[in-house]
Amino acid sequence: MHVTARAHPNIALVKYWGKRDSARNLPAVGSISITLGDLWTDMRLEADAEADELSVNGDSRPDLLPRIASCLDLVAGDDRQPMSVSSHSNFPVAAGLASSASAFAAAVVAAAAISGRKLEREELANLAGRASGSAARSLYEGFVELENAAERVQVRTICDSASWPLSVVVAITSTLPKSVGSGEAMEISRRTSPFYERWIDAQGDDLQRARTAILARDFEALADVAEHNCLKMHSVMWASRPPMVYWNAATLDCMQAVRQLRADGAGVFFTIDAGPQVKAVCLPEDADRVRDALTGVDGVERVMTSGLGEGAHLLG
Ligand code: PMV
Repeated sequence: MHVTARAHPNIALVKYWGKRDSARNLPAVGSISITLGDLWTDMRLEADAEADELSVNGDSRPDLLPRIASCLDLVAGDDRQPMSVSSHSNFPVAAGLASSASAFAAAVVAAAAISGRKLEREELANLAGRASGSAARSLYEGFVELENAAERVQVRTICDSASWPLSVVVAITSTLPKSVGSGEAMEISRRTSPFYERWIDAQGDDLQRARTAILARDFEALADVAEHNCLKMHSVMWASRPPMVYWNAATLDCMQAVRQLRADGAGVFFTIDAGPQVKAVCLPEDADRVRDALTGVDGVERVMTSGLGEGAHLLG
């Protein structure tokens, strides 16, 4: 017996940084993301193993097994059968490209199917969110808003992919694994960054502005709030002790290239997560121009383009 689920990574335009409850992994702030259709993680579960085992892109990864095994327990129950888990992604993992989001979103969908549990999408989103806060958003398509409710998160699509089909050009500037994982880094920021409280307090305004911009398909307004929110999150990280600087020289050069493109009339803005990659969100008609410009930046190893896409689902 085996099942495979596919999920796409998502990129936050208004970002989540900080937890209000570490034990239940509940975020301190709401967030808004876009789900990327052309990048994916396929998670195959087979209930034939003597003990849980995990391979990622063909390599055995016992180091990553405990996190995925606990996620499977949450969905299928502690008394589930041992599983052979294999994950394949068509993009670099653990480099600030939200591979944990697509992996855990696919894992909860596959685990529900193999264990015969019929769970609502929002329940699956909450279970994926226990493993990785941003994974809750990858259950949904298009523009996705995650809101903090009392004991859980509420997630919904606020605009589907077809209604505003933006493109995303991802510039990979390094494929080395990140130095500090996002969970640990958020805790360091909460404890030590002098800007952390201000970040939390101002998030409601950014969410409101982004939601309004998306519903009005106002690209300029979305660009303005998304770049502001991204730079504010990185300011929180930079002012933490120890400081967390995920950028490299090529990251800055890509940001500069995006600013120049915008000055030259292209519809494009940047966003950056806990890693050195730059994601340039753009109008589809400007995607080739943006890709060419970012390909020409020194230090860019690879450029990938994606449209928006659907939520996590079973394959086959
Ligand atoms: O889901 P996590 O724990 O990997 O945290 C994701 C944090 C950011 O990617 C930096 C922001 C976000 O909202 O996705």
